[in-house]
Amino acid sequence: MADYDVIVIGSGPGGYVCAIRCAQLGLKTACVEGRETLGGTCLNVGCIPSKALLHASHQLHEAEHNFAKMGLKGKTPSVDWNQMLSYKDDVIGQNTKGIEFLFKKNKIDWIKGWGSIPAAGQVKVGDDVHKAKHIIIATGSEAASLPGIDIDEKTVVTSTGALELGKIPKKLVVIGAGVIGLELGSVYARLGAEVEVIEFLDTITPGMDVEVARTFQKLLTKQGLSFTLGAAVQSVAVKNNKAKVTYKLRKDDSEHTVDADTVLVATGRRPYTDGLGLEAAGVKLTDRGQVETDAHYATSVKGIYAIGDAISGPMLAHKAEDEGMAVAEIIAGQAGHVNYGVIPGVIYTHPEVANVGATEETLKDAGTPYKVGKFSFMGNGRAKANFAADGFVKILAHKETDRILGAHIIGPMAGDLIHEICVAMEFGAAAEDLARTCHAHPTYSEAVREAALACGDGPIHS
Ligand code: NAI
Repeated sequence: MADYDVIVIGSGPGGYVCAIRCAQLGLKTACVEGRETLGGTCLNVGCIPSKALLHASHQLHEAEHNFAKMGLKGKTPSVDWNQMLSYKDDVIGQNTKGIEFLFKKNKIDWIKGWGSIPAAGQVKVGDDVHKAKHIIIATGSEAASLPGIDIDEKTVVTSTGALELGKIPKKLVVIGAGVIGLELGSVYARLGAEVEVIEFLDTITPGMDVEVARTFQKLLTKQGLSFTLGAAVQSVAVKNNKAKVTYKLRKDDSEHTVDADTVLVATGRRPYTDGLGLEAAGVKLTDRGQVETDAHYATSVKGIYAIGDAISGPMLAHKAEDEGMAVAEIIAGQAGHVNYGVIPGVIYTHPEVANVGATEETLKDAGTPYKVGKFSFMGNGRAKANFAADGFVKILAHKETDRILGAHIIGPMAGDLIHEICVAMEFGAAAEDLARTCHAHPTYSEAVREAALACGDGPIHS
């Protein structure tokens, strides 16, 4: 007889949410986690700690740049880096303990240790083999480095090391102008580091709506980050705790070097499935190392499922969470489902950048007739009052039907504002539906409504 209905391997946002949903649906559930604390990369060394540092460093930025303008005069705070790190650790602790509490509340067993799958229906942790009717792989991802670069997590770091540097570097080189590079690059730029971002492509945040990416780069440049685009990093040499980064410009193949106190390698992540014994268990991987799944998260072996960063799709905590809930519901005999067309993406810089659905570029490529409704935060009273008027809301709607196809926001609280558009898209709304919805004044969300109005007869405040 099986010990459990479900064993989830991994307790990140995909795994722990999945375990809770399984338990809520009456399934006897355990979750295997080898870290000291629950929550996976996101809570321990990812989303949550980086947000703590972004928040703290943004407060400093406000004190340095905006307080005096509002009549708040006096000494600008100085940075106590160790205190900032312990604030961050405290935030992590509160969140990871919160999950431990939720596991107890939902009667989920935490099996401590690293799990492997000797065969379908079995999860081995240490010397113990636990039997389960269903096994869910939710083991997430790990930083992918580049050839010629050795990560020591001190001088050459991934996001993990960047969240606990011994001191604030004078010069930080970030390799990769993606989400991690720009969020953590922003943190250290605000804390006084000289930050240079080296990116392989000719644009930052590849895949993002190009107009937004250009504005984003301008705003980050104003904040002191510098960008070297179209540059392929060749190697990083470390001597006496200093690094020398060598890169080649793609346009003319010229070689350049730059010195740094710290190098952050942020060139993407890859699925983490080491030690699971997937090959022996017969679980197929794609050629990109992702666990191969069908539309119901089933792998090639009956009774074994996979979700989150370990499978295809965007590597986002909330995508993993939704898949965790969906697979739990499917196992419980319900109709679990994720709408991959409406998964928001957010970059938590200042201003924030958020998107959902199609970009102008993808619509053009697909030959879809579309119209653009745009509204600048310059026309939003609340944003002006809060020194947050940089950026805009851009809504893309079908030219004939007015149905919302995508939205892109760069501006204050973009990561929260995007969700009314996500809900609208889930309901198949037209831009006019948003435009006719009363939005409280004065709020940032009025800019969303104005952009929706701009898809029709035009906005009021521009
Ligand atoms: P990314 O895929 O967002 O960006 C990596 C960047 O590195 C790309 O712009 C790529 O062109 C560049 N690159 C690759 N090779 C290079 C080379 N040799 N030289 C210079 N540049 C090179 O990956 P990132 O930022 O490491 O993030 C990893 C994952 O974590 C992503 O899937 C991201 O979505 C997720 N994440 C999400 C967050 C959020 O939702 N706020 C926060 C942090 C991470």
